[in-house]
Amino acid sequence: MDLIDYLKNRRSYKIPFEKTTVKRELIEECIKVSQWAPSAHNSQPWRYIILDDLDTRTNLINGMNAKLRKDLEYDGKSESFIEGKINSTRSQFLNAPVLILVCMDKIVLENYSDDERNENEFVLGVMSVASSITYLLIYFQKYGLASCWYSAPLFAKKIVIDTLNLPSSFFPLAFITVGFPEIKEIKPPKRNFYEEILIYASKLVKNKK
Ligand SMILES: Cc1cc2nc3c(=O)[nH]c(=O)nc-3n(C[C@H](O)[C@H](O)[C@H](O)COP(=O)(O)O)c2cc1C
Repeated sequence: MDLIDYLKNRRSYKIPFEKTTVKRELIEECIKVSQWAPSAHNSQPWRYIILDDLDTRTNLINGMNAKLRKDLEYDGKSESFIEGKINSTRSQFLNAPVLILVCMDKIVLENYSDDERNENEFVLGVMSVASSITYLLIYFQKYGLASCWYSAPLFAKKIVIDTLNLPSSFFPLAFITVGFPEIKEIKPPKRNFYEEILIYASKLVKNKK
């Protein structure tokens, strides 16, 4: 495949995977490639935690689902809606052949003497992790692997940290499900017209006058 095909054909794969096991070495090789992503100050704050033990994975998903239930009850959602959400999260995360938790290690971020710059540094860290995840998802395709990025750990940070006994500097950001896809062709979701996202500053400045 050309680079353009890798970039345009990557899809968020949210449907069942094949039961085939994904070799650990394959995942490790892809993670090694994702280390070449750019990061602010070359801090490389990404940490990839492979949930390789089913009991731990199940404990974690049960804990996260308890938090999800609480949040949705607080939002006033119906029992059937809550059950539906919990069941789909459970099957997405427990049935994926590989589940990776991605964290940012805050310990490598620069420390400033004011809150504003510390907040900026935090954002830089998140952007850096996101760039590495993007490399990873794109590279998975080389081996015919499908994947999806999920935000659930961000919404259950304390549970994730406690269940996995993570260092306190780890900030949970995402899950990535990985496996060989049952269905190879997924219809790409619509992209915006590029005229909506591409803006020339000269026009903005002209409008101000
Ligand atoms: C930061 C981020 C968070 C995401 N979180 C979720 C999520 O929690 N659940 C989900 O189903 N998809 C999630 N996705 C996948 C998006 O839904 C998907 O990228 C988008 O619909 C575009 O589809 P595509 O990736 O196939 O191009 C996330 C993607 C990103 C980049």
